[in-house]
Amino acid sequence: MDKLLSASLMCANLTELKKSVEELKNAGIDYLHLDIMDGSFVPNITLGFDLVNAIKEITDIPLDVHMMVNDPSRFIDRMKLDKSDILCVHYEADIHAQRTLAQIKERGIKAGIAINPQTPPECIRYLTDYIDMALVMTVSPGFAGQKLFAGAETKTCRTRELLNEWGCEKIPIEVDGNISPENGKKLSKSGADIFVLGTSSLFIKGKDMKQAADEFRAVL
Ligand code: DX5
Ligand code: ZN
Repeated sequence: MDKLLSASLMCANLTELKKSVEELKNAGIDYLHLDIMDGSFVPNITLGFDLVNAIKEITDIPLDVHMMVNDPSRFIDRMKLDKSDILCVHYEADIHAQRTLAQIKERGIKAGIAINPQTPPECIRYLTDYIDMALVMTVSPGFAGQKLFAGAETKTCRTRELLNEWGCEKIPIEVDGNISPENGKKLSKSGADIFVLGTSSLFIKGKDMKQAADEFRAVL
């Protein structure tokens, strides 16, 4: 499977987002990762639906929307996404995750399921017909600049192993949180396919984004 890069826009300079999106396009970034939080499922609030729609208007880079929101089905129609985009909801935030994922797919959008560090990957077992991606959180979600959790490599390996066992070799694994080049290299070996790049690799003061993206790709 191709190794793809998803740039975490909450880590960009929010006063110059349009410029950052242009730079990310020039850097060959595959997805723009947008973190939507509700201050309840996670103790923070960052980007919102109007911003998702505004970014969609100014770029053809596919969006990778990560909803860290309780009962996300309430909000899936607030975003104007299409078949190139991924809308990802948390397993822990929705007791009816299956129905929510089916609703996302009915709207022609790619669906993703995200799991927190302590959530066993086996929980995806009966959702595989409804997902286009599995997001293995490599930190507890909510904040940039955290440290990779201790089980991140083992869990990524196990998730890949399980997906393959279930005949889902084509479902990519995304990893999110402290994806530095060093951690990216280890997680790539463990079976990760899509890498969310934030303050640990892509958005570094004084560093050119294209150079940072090229350096990251070189270690995969
Ligand atoms: C959480 C966020 C963060 C962040 C990643 O959902 O997606 O994990 O953007 O960036 P760093 O590299 O700061 O962990
Ligand atoms: Zn995220």
